[in-house]
Amino acid sequence: MSPSKARITLIAAVTSAATLGGALVMGQSEQADPNVIPREATAEYGRRLIRDTAALLGPNAEDPSMRYSGSNLDCASCHLQTGTTPGQLSLLPSTPRYPRHSGRDGQMQDMRSRINGCMERSMNGQALPRDSVELIAMELYLEKLNDQYEAMGATNQAEDEPPVFAWPNRRANPDVGQVIYEQNCVVCHGENGEGLLETGDPKNGYLFPPLWGPDSYNDGAGMHRVLTAARFIKARMPLGQPDLTDDEAYDVAAYMNSQARPHKDNLEADYPDLLRKPFDSPYGPYVEGDPFSQDDHKYGPFQPIRDWYTERREAAQAPAEEERG
Ligand code: HEC
Ligand code: HEC
Repeated sequence: MSPSKARITLIAAVTSAATLGGALVMGQSEQADPNVIPREATAEYGRRLIRDTAALLGPNAEDPSMRYSGSNLDCASCHLQTGTTPGQLSLLPSTPRYPRHSGRDGQMQDMRSRINGCMERSMNGQALPRDSVELIAMELYLEKLNDQYEAMGATNQAEDEPPVFAWPNRRANPDVGQVIYEQNCVVCHGENGEGLLETGDPKNGYLFPPLWGPDSYNDGAGMHRVLTAARFIKARMPLGQPDLTDDEAYDVAAYMNSQARPHKDNLEADYPDLLRKPFDSPYGPYVEGDPFSQDDHKYGPFQPIRDWYTERREAAQAPAEEERG
């Protein structure tokens, strides 16, 4: 058993002993609610955290000490069907990719710190403590997903997934994107991108998640990059009928990402090696001498920026462009 596995087992044993103790103290009159998954380091609790993130970790979660997420999104708002849908933003084969070097952090990153990356940016919240039952449970869930994925020998390509997004060689146009939004997205995501809550209570999360505004992902999130968003939108949206062209996905992604959203502090510390910064990063600083404006980096055209960066990387013998999730 690897040291990290051994530690997980140990923590799980300690936690379940503690829970058992609690249950005994509760006495016989307490009926266990079959819908409540105990706070234990199990894959099932991890799956629940990814599905019902707003209820369990959101700003209105029942237990105030668990309010780590800054929004009422669920992880599954982006990682569809708790990450089990193959293709874009699938979490099926994610664990074998870690630990690895993260250009954004400038250091090695394991699965727990990758999850916390989404907590602090996509969920606009706080990092979970590294040894928390929650982080371990999510990691266990992702490990289990990967085992099942390998056993199935499946491909990570959804059967009905449209062809992969190829970026048009021009600047993305948010004004055109607004028209596309009104025709294809407004019905679910709302006039102001505010989404639609599942019930009146934000704790229960969204039926249709917000795309911008105070309860959305922040400006340091992967989804805030026009190309990352366009790739996801082309593959998945409108939900159930993803039929946008590359041009439409590109412009609507630009429209969505030109709207106001929460700001993440300290973004200038990201990518300590600026040569490793993705060329479509919408925030600076950029490599010294970079002739492109911040707006160019945000909306393109991307080919000249990519070419400029590829040349500098090769000259510096820096590692190739980072693989994108
Ligand atoms: C039929 C309703 C529907 C339509 C139409 C629709 N979406 Fe969505 N969208 C959803 C749902 C539901 C989710 C969350 C996924 C889930 O719960 O399975 C989602 C998730 C998203 C997300 C990721 C989560 C977030 O809040 O950031 C983005 C981005 C997104 N949609 C963009 C769009 C865009 C752009 C369009 C128009 C081209 C669109 N959607 C059309 C229902 C819809
Ligand atoms: C607003 C959309 C969004 C939400 C919400 C979100 N993520 Fe992500 N996640 C992404 C994107 C986009 C990436 C791809 C990396 C990038 O480009 O930044 C990613 C990557 C990941 C990865 C790495 C996958 C791999 O194969 O390397 C993991 C693990 C992950 N997310 C877990 C989570 C968890 C757990 C939550 C909830 C706590 C969450 N995410 C919430 C958008 C989201």
